[in-house]
Amino acid sequence: MVKIAPSILSADFGRLAEQVSEAEEAGADWIHVDVMDGSFVPNITIGPAVTEAVRSATDLPIDVHLMIKNPDQHLSAFADAGADYLTVHQETCVHLHRTIDSIRGLGVKPGITLNPATPLKAIEDILSYVDLALVMSVNPGFGGQSFISSSTEKIKNLKNMIEQKGLKDLELEVDGGINLDTAAPAVSAGSTVLVAGSAIFGHPEGISEAIRHLRKAVTGEPV
Ligand code: DX5
Ligand code: ZN
Repeated sequence: MVKIAPSILSADFGRLAEQVSEAEEAGADWIHVDVMDGSFVPNITIGPAVTEAVRSATDLPIDVHLMIKNPDQHLSAFADAGADYLTVHQETCVHLHRTIDSIRGLGVKPGITLNPATPLKAIEDILSYVDLALVMSVNPGFGGQSFISSSTEKIKNLKNMIEQKGLKDLELEVDGGINLDTAAPAVSAGSTVLVAGSAIFGHPEGISEAIRHLRKAVTGEPV
């Protein structure tokens, strides 16, 4: 079954623990934590302290997306904070293989991601060393942006690459602009994990209804 990973970027930070619990009770599979440094991306968000607060609020796997320069300096802090997955951007890592190796050495599952304009070729050689490959379907930095339509093709191509390499357990995650219209095409293209921020935490009927609707959109059941 496809996994749903609510991104707390769009949560009410004043009620974060409560909202994370609500997402868990509504059937979320992972919690996605967006870390931004104001340098690699224009926005500044969450660090290890908030990640630790999320860890205390849920038993779900915590999926940390590092949108920061020099990620190597901060890997152990996020591992200590309770991250289950640590995903780095190809664009931020000069020695990507070493970074992925360090993440695994900390007992955390490594993930790789890339900006919409970066070709898949740039991550092809690292795929066999990671547990997760993330296709960014918006330019990283903010929640609430529109899904870039060419991302569907990129997901398909990545899925083919993963199949050709026989990497059966590798998760193929998609992040950015996932909603009731874009979720099903992203899953048909090969995504196994859907990140959604504004579509879940900004839903007018609340978090539980949002997750229920999203689940139905991908299983094809009427809402
Ligand atoms: C964007 C972040 C996303 C973001 C998604 O840079 O990586 O995880 O929270 O938000 P939505 O689902 O609103 O596009
Ligand atoms: Zn993200």
